[in-house]
Amino acid sequence: MGTAITFIPTATAPPANLSRSSVSQRCSSLSNSPILSLFRNPNFKTNRSSSQSLVSTPLRAKSSSVIGAANEAVDASSPGSIGANDLLIVGPGVLGKLVAEKWREDHPGCQIFGQTVTTDHHDELVKIGISPSLKGTKATHKFPFVVFSAPTSRSLDYPGDVREAASSWSGEGSFLFTSSSAPFDCNDNGPCDEDFPVVPIGRSPRTDVLLKAEKVVLESDGCVLRLAGLYISFMNLYVIYIHANKHHILNLIHYEDAASLLVAIMKKKLRGRIFLGCDNHPLSRQEVMALVNKSGKFTQKFEGFTGTNDPLGKKLNNAKTRKEIGWEPKYPSFAQFLGVSE
Ligand SMILES: NC(=O)c1ccc[n+]([C@@H]2O[C@H](COP(=O)([O-])OP(=O)(O)OC[C@H]3O[C@@H](n4cnc5c(N)ncnc54)[C@H](OP(=O)(O)O)[C@@H]3O)[C@@H](O)[C@H]2O)c1
Repeated sequence: MGTAITFIPTATAPPANLSRSSVSQRCSSLSNSPILSLFRNPNFKTNRSSSQSLVSTPLRAKSSSVIGAANEAVDASSPGSIGANDLLIVGPGVLGKLVAEKWREDHPGCQIFGQTVTTDHHDELVKIGISPSLKGTKATHKFPFVVFSAPTSRSLDYPGDVREAASSWSGEGSFLFTSSSAPFDCNDNGPCDEDFPVVPIGRSPRTDVLLKAEKVVLESDGCVLRLAGLYISFMNLYVIYIHANKHHILNLIHYEDAASLLVAIMKKKLRGRIFLGCDNHPLSRQEVMALVNKSGKFTQKFEGFTGTNDPLGKKLNNAKTRKEIGWEPKYPSFAQFLGVSE
């Protein structure tokens, strides 16, 4: 959220003939600015080879443990028994699947369950060892580790969905909710950290939903991870340009880093805490596009941002989270991810 430019991975992105509205719907949670144009740009590539793609490759056929786990996929609503490291992911999308992969690396043999809105991705989830179930299915078990990583966009009652996830938590290991940095009440490109005040309830429906969901989590003794804008790399990328103020500061974190932070927090088994996930390298929209252009991997000319009066952003810093969790990102900045100097 709060992201002006987003790269939607091919693996999860809609096909080329996808309607603009459905992409807009997916991306509406990423920005409060209107989308200027959307097009597919197969020429935008990063330095990473396809074998290094961050979601598709590892999850498609990474290791025998994943394949073995797939064979063990069971009905999530009535698993035989639940182990001490078993994990329920509500919203096993791009981030949730990376979390599943990292969790299994640390806990070989664990069971991982995934709750979705539709059955659209159930076959894919089974293949990567996640036992799928539908939201609303009455669960007969509680889980020691629960992650809620579903976006707000598909929910009529987001705090209610989070409450349902909380009720699936046994209270043992950890319950972690992926929120956004949007609630921080900072719109002047100023510094902002974990302790910054949040937008009061009633000012914005968008932040109300998140803050109400966070409240449910904290009342359940779960933890909240407020995330900066998520990005990821693939051979083919959809690039979205937005009518926006070029001076608006963006905060980013690579999906893989968000997943590693999430897993690190879960392993601490903390209660009722709020953490922040970002790369500590805030960039203006203009700087983001300058880096993309500099990388030489984007062949289409970017004409520039057109907005002038939009509110500005914030410069996130999560030094406190890093210190307490003992976590550092693999991609310390967007520039380093692209392989260019700032
Ligand atoms: N993208 C960003 O820049 C950004 C920034 C800050 C925070 N976040 C947060 O980070 C988290 C992960 O984002 P993501 O991009 O990985 O999400 P994503 O890929 O869009 O997640 C999609 C998955 O969530 C499921 N889902 C959607 N709504 C659901 C609901 N109400 N209950 C249960 N499952 C639901 C979908 O089910 P189907 O399989 O049926 O479609 C699908 O499995 C989200 O909580 C998001 O709000 C994202």
